[in-house]
Amino acid sequence: MMSKKVSVKGGAEGEKKKDSKKGSSSPSRVVMSLNHVLILSVALNVGFFINHLGLKDFINTSVSNSVCGEKPSKQTPFSSSLVTENGGGGGIGDEQKLLPSDSVINLDHGDPTMYESFWRKMGDKATIVIPGWQCLSYFSDIKQVCWFLEPDFAQEIIRLHKLVGNANTKDRYIVVGTGSTQLFQAALYALSPSNATEPISVVSAAPYYSSYPLVTDFLKSGLYRWAGDAYTFNKEGPYIELVTSPNNPDGYSRESVVKHGGGTLVHDLAYYWPQYAPLTSMADHEIMLFTVSKSTGHAGTRLGWALVKDKEVAKKMTKYIELNTIGVSKDSQLRAAKILRTLTDSCENMEKTDHTECFFKDGHLIMAERWGQLRDAVQRSGMFSLPQFSPDFCNYKGTVTEPHPAFAWLRCEGEVQDCESFLKGHKILTRSGRHFGEDPKYVRVSMLDRNESFKLFVERLSSIHS
Ligand SMILES: Cc1ncc(COP(=O)(O)O)c(C=O)c1O
Repeated sequence: MMSKKVSVKGGAEGEKKKDSKKGSSSPSRVVMSLNHVLILSVALNVGFFINHLGLKDFINTSVSNSVCGEKPSKQTPFSSSLVTENGGGGGIGDEQKLLPSDSVINLDHGDPTMYESFWRKMGDKATIVIPGWQCLSYFSDIKQVCWFLEPDFAQEIIRLHKLVGNANTKDRYIVVGTGSTQLFQAALYALSPSNATEPISVVSAAPYYSSYPLVTDFLKSGLYRWAGDAYTFNKEGPYIELVTSPNNPDGYSRESVVKHGGGTLVHDLAYYWPQYAPLTSMADHEIMLFTVSKSTGHAGTRLGWALVKDKEVAKKMTKYIELNTIGVSKDSQLRAAKILRTLTDSCENMEKTDHTECFFKDGHLIMAERWGQLRDAVQRSGMFSLPQFSPDFCNYKGTVTEPHPAFAWLRCEGEVQDCESFLKGHKILTRSGRHFGEDPKYVRVSMLDRNESFKLFVERLSSIHS
C-alpha cells in the first residue's frame, strides 16, 4: 500500500511539470485524476489505521464538523506564536448555519460542540498567545510528584473545584493527563499488582462507558483485564471497579456495586458538574478523574486531571504518563488554565442563579431546555422511553434541581429490537446499548451537539410513529 502511494505521487508530480510546459489540457486531467488517486490512497490508509486501531468506534468518519483550523488564523502562516481563537465562526461550525431538513444527524459521540456558543460569547477573554520561545522544556515543576503539571493549570483546577464544591482537592496530588482517557489507563497501571500471576479484573456496572472495555483490553496487558459487568462479578480476589457518576450512558448517580468488596475504586467524575447534575456532596474518593472535554467543552484540548489521595499511586500514574508520552502538552495546559480561569471568573463574582454570563448557569439552562424538548418529543412520538430522575438539592446552585445528563439513554418501546438500526433508518446516528453491556433496545444519544442538530433531532424524533 505504501509503495503504491509513493509511486502514484511521483507520477503525478512528473505529469504536472509536463502539463505546465505544453499547456495541454489532457495531461492536466491525468494530474487531476492521479491527485484524486493519491487523496483516495491517503484516505484509505487513514481508514485502514482507524479500523486497525479500533478507533472507528470513536472517530466519526461520516460528517466533519471541525471548527478548529477551518478558518485561517489572523496570523501569518510563518508566525512563531500559537493563537487560540474563540471568535472563529463563518464556517461549518457556525451556530447560524441551517441544516437541510433531511440531514443525517450524528449523535453517536459525546462531542461537546454545544458549548461553542458560550465561548463565542466570551470573545477574547479566553484567548491566549504563546510566544515561540515559551514551553520548550519537557519539565514544568520538578518539585511536584507530577513534574509535567503546569503550575497555572494546577492552580486553576483547585480554584474551580473550590468554587463549585464538587470535589475535595485538599491533601490531594494532581496528575494531568492527555484527556482522562490517558489517566484512566495510568490508574489501571498504578493499581495493578506488579507481581500477580494473572491480570487483575477490571469491572464497571452495566450500562458502562463503552470505551472502558476497549481501552482496558486494547494492548492485551498482562497486568489487567476487562471482566465485564460489576453487578454480576463474583470472582474472589483483588479487582478494580470503575464508578462513573453521573453515569455515561444513563445519567444516574452511582456508587460501587461489587458485593464482596475489597477492590480498588476509580471514580470517573467527568459529568459531576452543575450543568448536568445537582451537586449533592463534595466527592472525596481515592482517585477521581475529571476532564475539560465535558466540564468546559474543550474536548480537542485533550486534557484531564486526576485528584489522587495516595502519593505512591500518584507517582505510579505519573510514571505511566512519563513512559507513555513523556508528559502532557504544555500548550494545552496553558490554554486550559486560561479557559478554567475565564470560566471561574464568569461565575465567581455574581449571583449564581440569575446570570447567563456564568458558564454553569448558561449550561444548566441549555441542558434543562433540551431535556424538556426531548421529553416532549418522546411523548409525541409514543415509540420511546427515557430514564426518570429525582430532583435533589444542589449545594452549588443553592436550590433543588433535576439532573440533565450529557446523554439520553433512549429505549425503543414495542416491536423494535435494534434501536440503533431503527433510528439510523430515520437518519439519526446513535450508539447501541450493546456497546455499554446492555440490550440493543437502548441507544445512547448525545445531548451536547450544536443547536441546529439538536433541534432537527427532536423534530424528527417526535414525528416517528408506529
Ligand atoms: C465517563 C467518561 N470518562 C472519560 C471520558 C473521556 O474523556 P477525555 O476526552 O478527557 O479523554 C469520557 C468521554 O466521553 C466519558 O464519558
